[in-house]
Amino acid sequence: MLHAQQASHPAAKTPLEHYSTLIESGTLQQDDHQTRIIEKLQGLHDEIVKYHPPEISPLPAQRSLVSRLFSSTPAPAPSIPLDHIPKGLYLYGDVGTGKTMLMDLFYKSLPRSIKRKRRVHFHAFMIDVHKRVHAMKAKLGAGGGDPIAPVARDLANEAYVLCFDEFQVTDIADAMILRQLFEKLLNYGVVCVVTSNRHPDDLYKNGIQRSSFLPCIDLLNTRFNVTTLNSGTDYRRIPRTLSHVYYDPLTAENRLEVQKIFEAFTSDPSDPVVPNRKLEIWGRPLFVPESSSAVAKFRFEELCGKPLSAADYIEVTKTFGTIFVLDVPKLGLNQKDKARRFITFVDACYESKTKLFITSEVPIFQIFADDSGKKSEDMSDHMRNIMDDLGLSSDTVVSSAMFTGDEELFAFARCCSRLVEMGSKQWAETVGDRTHK
Ligand SMILES: Nc1ncnc2c1ncn2[C@@H]1O[C@H](COP(=O)(O)OP(=O)(O)O)[C@@H](O)[C@H]1O
Ligand SMILES: [Mg+2]
Repeated sequence: MLHAQQASHPAAKTPLEHYSTLIESGTLQQDDHQTRIIEKLQGLHDEIVKYHPPEISPLPAQRSLVSRLFSSTPAPAPSIPLDHIPKGLYLYGDVGTGKTMLMDLFYKSLPRSIKRKRRVHFHAFMIDVHKRVHAMKAKLGAGGGDPIAPVARDLANEAYVLCFDEFQVTDIADAMILRQLFEKLLNYGVVCVVTSNRHPDDLYKNGIQRSSFLPCIDLLNTRFNVTTLNSGTDYRRIPRTLSHVYYDPLTAENRLEVQKIFEAFTSDPSDPVVPNRKLEIWGRPLFVPESSSAVAKFRFEELCGKPLSAADYIEVTKTFGTIFVLDVPKLGLNQKDKARRFITFVDACYESKTKLFITSEVPIFQIFADDSGKKSEDMSDHMRNIMDDLGLSSDTVVSSAMFTGDEELFAFARCCSRLVEMGSKQWAETVGDRTHK
């Protein structure tokens, strides 16, 4: 099925060819709904291959105070006619239907000549945007004008193909800048592919000042091809072979076993394990207790017992392809902060496709279990539905009174689902590339 030229350049495969190869090898199951989406992504791929993004002229280097006083930043008009810019895809649907997998195939298939591209989890992207807006405000000074336009310009300069995984709006700070940011990015000729669990009309439901967010919904509906992947198949439910990545309880034998794996991963004499390697996160140092250049080891307390943030965990998981977390305790109700940080850490590992090894006091699904004697029968219908959506049986995850509110419960349930996925053989195989770097 491969053309001779492509066989010698495997990276030159198109999204459709990538997808067909995975079906033929039996890695993926044939799915007509996914085929329909991959055909759309193929169409977008073909347009992007021919697309010449508009030049983004540099901003005047130094604007005088007078010019700043007498001019406001005009919203940039599209620098080329809108119909010359390929229309991006907004792909939404239930969990586990393959949205992220399809978007990743699309991203992987972009020609090597396209250097200005970026694939990012939406949450990480917004952290980056707020950081840039903050820095831009400081740079512009008081009365310096709108910081979003120059930030959008910088982002567009860095990447004209942007892939966002798990687009969601839960935060008023995000909701208030998104329309302006997206409008500017699109007008600069940026093409986006977005995955989300929700149709644009259902974003930021019940959010504060939702009416101010409606223009953003309008923008998504008009400037994207909004498509659903409503296959009804949740591939996460399909049983997976578990490979050994979680070791419980904390016996001498388990500790020794994991120590041996760590030694095997760090046996290269030219890349020895060093204590207290320093990472810089936004100018602050973070010390990694034991690490080689690609493998890190933390005790749970060192990782989640200190007030580290999502940005810290993202940096750690970007730096190390394999991470060992030792001595994870069963977390009680009074350790909610640690539990939250652990969830944030697991999310970061999942996004960066980090390989994890964990030793813990109890089986990994029970680390959030509280001591209130709750049984799965006591699980609320709401929680049960969430578990069901994520393909987890209520017996796998013992109910926890630690998490309250929809967002927290969802994050908790998703964390459990991700730990299952990250313990699977398929995960070990798909992350293989990173660990051998
Ligand atoms: N057609 C398929 N056959 C087998 N496994 C699949 C198929 N589509 C997706 N998967 C697997 O199912 C899991 C969930 O897919 P993912 O893309 O993460 O879903 P979503 O982003 O929609 O929640 C992934 O591990 C993915 O590799
Ligand atoms: Mg996904």
